[in-house]
Amino acid sequence: MKDLLRTEHLSRADIELLFTTASDFANEPLRSLSALSGKTVAIYMTKPSTRTRLASETAIAHLGGSPVFLRSEDLQIGRGETISDTAKILSGFCSALIIRTFAQSDVDELGANATIPVINALTDDDHPTQALADWLTIREKFGADLSGRTFVYVGDGNNVTHSWLLMGAQLGAHVVAATPPGEYAPDAAVVQRAQAIAATTGGKVELSNDPVAASKGASVIYTDVWMSMGDPESERIEKEKVLKPFAVTPELMGSAAQDAIFMHCLPAHRGEEVAAKVIDGEQSVVWREAFHRRTTIQAILYHLTRGELGGSEYAHLRSR
Ligand code: CP
Ligand code: NVA
Repeated sequence: MKDLLRTEHLSRADIELLFTTASDFANEPLRSLSALSGKTVAIYMTKPSTRTRLASETAIAHLGGSPVFLRSEDLQIGRGETISDTAKILSGFCSALIIRTFAQSDVDELGANATIPVINALTDDDHPTQALADWLTIREKFGADLSGRTFVYVGDGNNVTHSWLLMGAQLGAHVVAATPPGEYAPDAAVVQRAQAIAATTGGKVELSNDPVAASKGASVIYTDVWMSMGDPESERIEKEKVLKPFAVTPELMGSAAQDAIFMHCLPAHRGEEVAAKVIDGEQSVVWREAFHRRTTIQAILYHLTRGELGGSEYAHLRSR
């Protein structure tokens, strides 16, 4: 596999390898300081980022390389140069490209036209690097055997929900997305894909519209912002109303298992999708989760630039 374009492109073996390497990079960040020595990695973002940008730039530095950070207004792409021409130029100078943007199809097109690894650092549909950090954090807490536990996402059905369900399915976990029905539910095609993966791994993918019932006995309660980057402002009032019952409160955490943890990809909005008492409380692992953004991106860069990820049976599929 040349690129990491979508969460479901990673095989179980790839995920296990990335977890092992990321854990090594957690203990010893500079253990592969010559991997990208003298090389550059482009980071191209058309949406804001705190964690992913910092994690990526730090990961590149820890591998001995130099990041080149680009916004759309820095490139001729904003003045009509094609994605395919841009991909060829990036490939001529850089060893990898980390891209955050709106349309998944733009990321797919970059991957198809670049000869260097292209890494999806968030689109409207997916957030694969986040999922790796999330599930590595879960591994650290509960170990490799996830059987008998449920892992519940509560809130808006979005890009992070998709990655959550897909990677959980690949790891053989019982994952649940509790969202409002309809417009704010996860994409049906993604859910189907996750269920197909779960059928081969012993996992289970469920949808719910009842956050309290879904959270009962859960090992993880995960949430994300209600308004994602690019969501129309005109939806805000309606979304806040519909999503209010899906807020992660101390009461909701109380219905989860005794040893449950709270997770959030961040940025968080205290008093909206999560209560301050929860995210700043003892069950929250959000800072460890954010820490693993660097270790996992470092592992992805390390293995992709060495051609060491095999890809899943879905890796050849470019559209959902
Ligand atoms: N979780 C995450 O992707 O954070 P940023 O938007 O700050 O990169
Ligand atoms: N769903 C959020 C995730 C931010 C990391 C967004 O796309 O804005």
